Order: sequence, then C-alpha cells, then structure tokens
Amino acid sequence: MTESIKGIILAGGLGSRLYPLTKVTNKHLLPVYNKPMIFYPLEALVQAGIHDVMLVTGGNSAGDFMRLLGNGHAYGLRSLSYAYQEGEGGIAHALSLTREFAGDSKVAVILGDNIIEENIKPFVSKFRKQKKGARLLLKEVDDAQRFGVAEIRGKKIIRIVEKPKNPKSRFAVTGIYFFDNQVYKITRNLRPSGRGELEITDVNNSYIKQGALEFDVLRKSWTDAGTFESLYRANQLARALSYPSQAKRS
Ligand code: G1P
Repeated sequence: MTESIKGIILAGGLGSRLYPLTKVTNKHLLPVYNKPMIFYPLEALVQAGIHDVMLVTGGNSAGDFMRLLGNGHAYGLRSLSYAYQEGEGGIAHALSLTREFAGDSKVAVILGDNIIEENIKPFVSKFRKQKKGARLLLKEVDDAQRFGVAEIRGKKIIRIVEKPKNPKSRFAVTGIYFFDNQVYKITRNLRPSGRGELEITDVNNSYIKQGALEFDVLRKSWTDAGTFESLYRANQLARALSYPSQAKRS
C-alpha cells in the first residue's frame, strides 16, 4: 500500500494587500478568471492524487468556504475537513492547527492563493520515497524580494530568507510544501517573528539545519495572488490554462 499523504490548504489571513477587495470577503474566495481562487490549490491536490484535505481559514467569511465547497465530493475529494484560525498567527500557526487531522501522516501543504500550471504529482511521488524531512518547490522569478528566497549551494538549499531586500538568488519558495510529521514538533517550538507571526520560512530553515530539506524547481508557470499585480497575473494564467488558444490570441 502506498503511504497516505494528507492535503492541507491554508486560506486564512486578512488579505490586507488586496483591500478593499477583501473588506467583506476572504481573499481566497475572490474570482480568478472563471473560478474562486480556492479551487486552484484544491484542484492541484486532487490532480496529484491527494483526496483527504483540511482547509484552514478564519475571519468573518469562514462559513462561506463550507457553503462553496461542502464536503468536497463534487471536487473529487474523499473528505474535506475544516479548521478555524483565530487571529493573525501566520502560516506556520495555521499549519499547527492541522496536527490532529494529520495523525501520523506526511502532509502536502498549499497556500490558498497559489496558482500552479504544473501537475505536482511527480513531486508528491518523490516525497513519498523521501525517508524523512521536507521538500519544497522553487520557481525562478523576477521579483524575488516579494517571497521567501532560497540560497542554493550545489544541490542544497543552505538558507531561506523571507522577503530579503537584496535577494541572494532568483529562486522564490513557492507556497507548496511537503513535510514529514516532525513539522508539528517544529511549529510547537517556533517563536513569533518581528511581525508577530509564526513564519513558514522558520519551519523550512529548521529542516535545513537538520540537513533534511530537498527541493525541486518548477518549469511551468506559477504565481501567488496576494497583491493587485499578482492577482492580475493569476487571472491571466488561469485564462491561459482554461483556454490556451484564446489566451495566445490576446
Ligand atoms: C508566503 C511565504 C513566502 C512564500 C510565499 C509564496 O508569503 O511567507 O515565503 O514565498 O508565501 O506564495 P506571503 O504571500 O504570505 O507574503
């Protein structure tokens, strides 16, 4: 039997960079071309063969996710669970809320605003074979200072810096992370960063310290959608993915 990997979609936060779009709704419910944003990460997990998923969200619109997604069966899921994040604890805090759901399993975590062209199934397979540790997906970008940036030496990431002023490489850490079950021990021991949040970059750096962080580089398109510019790009990418012939004409 293949080892089960559980899926986690993180869809909390205030979406303050998209204000006033996010004044009355959650960022991940906003339209991206012809679907709500949250459909894209969900479909990425389903396409990769991950059928048991937990969605973490918060705020006033939390109930809307259940109205939209229900039990997840219509989208190809076997089960969809929900967790509620109070306050603005950060990505790693949101992840820590999924410990019971994960049980002893490894987890595939995806940020709710990530739109990805590539099928992540081959990376999931590599992670299944990985004995322990974590696996990240990187993408070469022009605006690395907006992301967690990987400093690479040889075949290893030696450090990740969150939103560096002077990025050491063009490799952004995308919001798709594979973790072994140790991640919950790591999140338990994190301290809040300068902006008062538990940072996913600190989780990843902790795996680096143990020599247990692997990575792959995405070749096809990827974007987040947390700013007006990236949301606009996400719409363009989503359009190109649904109607490649039309997208080429524009
Ligand atoms: C978060 C992470 C960052 C990562 C990015 C990918 O940033 O903190 O390391 O590169 O997601 O989407 P945020 O979108 O919260 O600014």
